[in-house]
Amino acid sequence: MHSTLIGRAGTLVLAAAQVPLAGAQDLAAGKARADAVCGACHGANGVSVSDTIPNLAGQKSAYLQSQLRALKEGTRKNAIMGAIAAQPSAEYIANVAAHYASLHIGEEVAGGGEPGGVLGVP
Ligand code: HEC
Repeated sequence: MHSTLIGRAGTLVLAAAQVPLAGAQDLAAGKARADAVCGACHGANGVSVSDTIPNLAGQKSAYLQSQLRALKEGTRKNAIMGAIAAQPSAEYIANVAAHYASLHIGEEVAGGGEPGGVLGVP
């Protein structure tokens, strides 16, 4: 019994060490919610499906959380995203933000490639 508890604690520490950016957030829960709700617009991998919708992959978790809170509270106004952000709890926001922060934008950007690349920055 005692050793089982210690074994479990060890497994948790190892799991946490493998996702250093995730902190206390639940990445699996964040991914499930992102896949179910957000991917339709922000893309299955966090790279947006439209010119008018921002990419979320690789964005900083703290920034994503602050924007979701602002959209929820109405200090940032957008008809579409405001309605979506109205419901989620702080925990949901933290999980989904951690999920997107853990994703990486494609090699085209990271590797240099064409000036401008995927993000269109001149
Ligand atoms: C119906 C399409 C749609 C869905 C579904 C959607 N979004 Fe958005 N989202 C948008 C649009 C459009 C914007 C741009 C808002 C603006 O211009 O202010 C946006 C903006 C955002 C931003 C701000 C990004 C930035 O760079 O400032 C975040 C964060 C975000 N969405 C997260 C989410 C999350 C998390 C979900 C799932 C819970 C989600 N969105 C679902 C359309 C959508």
